Amino acid sequence: MSEVLTLEKQLLTNQKEVKKTPVKKFYIETLGCQMNVADSELIIAMLVDKGFIKSDNPQNSDLIFINTCSIRERAEEKVHSQLGRWAKIKKNKPEVIIGVLGCMAQNLKQDILENRPFVDIILGPDSYRKLPEIINRSMYDQQSIVDTKLSRYEVYDGLFPKRKDGVNAWISIMRGCDKFCTFCIVPFTRGRERSRNIDSIVKEAEYAVKSGYRELTLLGQNVNSFRYGDFMFHDLLEIVSQISGVDRIRYTSPHPQDISDELLAVMRKNDNICNYIHLPLQSGSDKILKRMHRSYLKEDFLSLAKKIRQILPGVGISTDIIVGFPGETEEDFLETISVMEDVKFDSAFNFKYSPRVGTKASEYEDQILETTKQKRLEKVINLQKEHSIQRNKKLIGTTQIILVEKQSKMSLDHWAGRTDSNKWVIFRKGKVKLNEMVKVLIIDSKGISLKGELVSEEKLA
Ligand code: 5AD
Ligand code: SF4
Repeated sequence: MSEVLTLEKQLLTNQKEVKKTPVKKFYIETLGCQMNVADSELIIAMLVDKGFIKSDNPQNSDLIFINTCSIRERAEEKVHSQLGRWAKIKKNKPEVIIGVLGCMAQNLKQDILENRPFVDIILGPDSYRKLPEIINRSMYDQQSIVDTKLSRYEVYDGLFPKRKDGVNAWISIMRGCDKFCTFCIVPFTRGRERSRNIDSIVKEAEYAVKSGYRELTLLGQNVNSFRYGDFMFHDLLEIVSQISGVDRIRYTSPHPQDISDELLAVMRKNDNICNYIHLPLQSGSDKILKRMHRSYLKEDFLSLAKKIRQILPGVGISTDIIVGFPGETEEDFLETISVMEDVKFDSAFNFKYSPRVGTKASEYEDQILETTKQKRLEKVINLQKEHSIQRNKKLIGTTQIILVEKQSKMSLDHWAGRTDSNKWVIFRKGKVKLNEMVKVLIIDSKGISLKGELVSEEKLA
């Protein structure tokens, strides 16, 4: 109580010197993973609830936020260049409040304070609840306000995100990561693993379905290590799949270590759980996997992929690959290529290793030359393109159920939607509308997407 009074007293005293105008409109830009997208939706809900108005233009906003990502150097560079642009807005309109939120705020607060003195608010991923109060303080405070304390408990229960219109609702089910892969900054920026209460997840899922979202994606940095009391991830998946009206369920991002037989059984049993698994490989070399602290070896990964394809026929499997991890020799790299050849992933996100200060791998002395990383990256990209095409071609002549998700970039009279195995299909619109499920015959494979033809204009659901 006394703390609140002190704060109010301080605000009254400071108000006398205030030149800033009351804040109304806010703009928020989101970089990085889906977790950040979901976090921004929470932030928007909180601010709208307090009477702020969301704007799509930073130029006419009173508050400008960037929800940041630290996973690789490039993600951080994007934030720096955006802050550079916003510095000009601040110069012309000093009353504007600029906030850096999320992983980079957590990770680089000192750097931002020293090099971007115009930033008013720096808020880590566990401090968003305080944002409305901090905005009020910032209106009267000349100093930057920093709150980057990580929490063991914050899962943002009881806050319903304000989602964009569309077919998919992101539902965050756990936060943080305890795996500590040696290349990864996430355990440092997002803190310890904690799972959300099942009742609250189900409530949010039911609400999303009632609001018209046909697809739910369960989200977490390590989504399948979800654990709430005796409930494991597969139990939660089963419960969510029973919610009436849920047409499609996806989840991301899992760790291979926690893909259990029970999880595969739940996926096989329930038609509304999409036949798709993201299975991050990172490297195919045992030596590198050990150095990465990945907890599986090449053979474990290969048998897991084989088992997944046996239990879930037609499953789509995607992966993440890092090339140029410290100490990666040409032989190690070829081991990665050999796993790719063996599994033939449906798609892959390929990255050059990017040293992150504070992680173990950034201290290894045998860092790889940029030119070598680049060459290896190009090789995996080209090989993956071949594999994606081979996998996609297998679908030609089959009929797939597609959820109509968006306007195709290819032409105005085509829709784009995904198969449940997560492949994009482009097809002529006919009388079909957005958000409907339809049957589409796959007639061609165009690069990494497929071309189809409506089997019937009748919607399935
Ligand atoms: N350098 C390159 N890629 C990284 N990833 C995570 N940290 C790094 C890093 N330091 C990749 C991993 C992970 C994906 C989300 O990002 O492949 O699975
Ligand atoms: Fe990062 Fe590894 Fe945790 Fe994934 S499992 S978030 S790669 S530390």
